[in-house]
Amino acid sequence: MSNTITLREIIQDDLPIFFEHQLDPEAAKMAAFPSREKETFMAHWAKIMANENVINRTILFNGQVAGNVASFEMEGEREVCYWIGREFWGLGIASESLKQLLGQEVRRPLFAHVAKHNVASRRVLEKCGFVVIREDKWKPDPNQDEVEEFILTLK
Ligand SMILES: CC(C)(COP(=O)(O)OP(=O)(O)OC[C@H]1O[C@@H](n2cnc3c(N)ncnc32)[C@H](O)[C@@H]1OP(=O)(O)O)[C@@H](O)C(=O)NCCC(=O)NCCS
Repeated sequence: MSNTITLREIIQDDLPIFFEHQLDPEAAKMAAFPSREKETFMAHWAKIMANENVINRTILFNGQVAGNVASFEMEGEREVCYWIGREFWGLGIASESLKQLLGQEVRRPLFAHVAKHNVASRRVLEKCGFVVIREDKWKPDPNQDEVEEFILTLK
């Protein structure tokens, strides 16, 4: 049987799975995004799930919850992001999920921020047609060093 990757609306039961995904230290380092504690995580998701301007989808891999993909507005730019559970890495899931999201999120241009060291994520974006347009630095939290990032766009 071939693998199937599909997107569906997020349900409440997905959130504890996404919580575990973002707790993974390797994933957090890759994304240069500090893991959130449970309360902060749940408050953040309650906010984005109530926001009609956010397109948020659960990624299913052969029916199992493998991660999430989203588009949202940040400082006037429409952005995409995604997070895959580590046990599902390297199976083409992020690339296929972003491709599917781009069929549902029809606004252009779209933007993405990716830490320079996150080679896999940059590759996902470039496979979907995004190109690097600029570089920047940002501080994920006050106790962390600045992270160098690429900003990509899809026109
Ligand atoms: C980055 C991430 C989304 C990649 O997800 P994935 O489903 O494993 O990605 P894919 O399988 O679609 O692979 C995409 C490409 O990256 C390549 N790749 C995967 N892991 C890699 C690695 N560690 N180093 C270099 N390339 C890598 C794959 O070979 C593939 O390229 P190819 O098709 O030319 O062979 C996933 O690791 C993740 O969720 N990480 C934590 C959160 C994160 O970084 N989110 C993105 C924030 S910008």
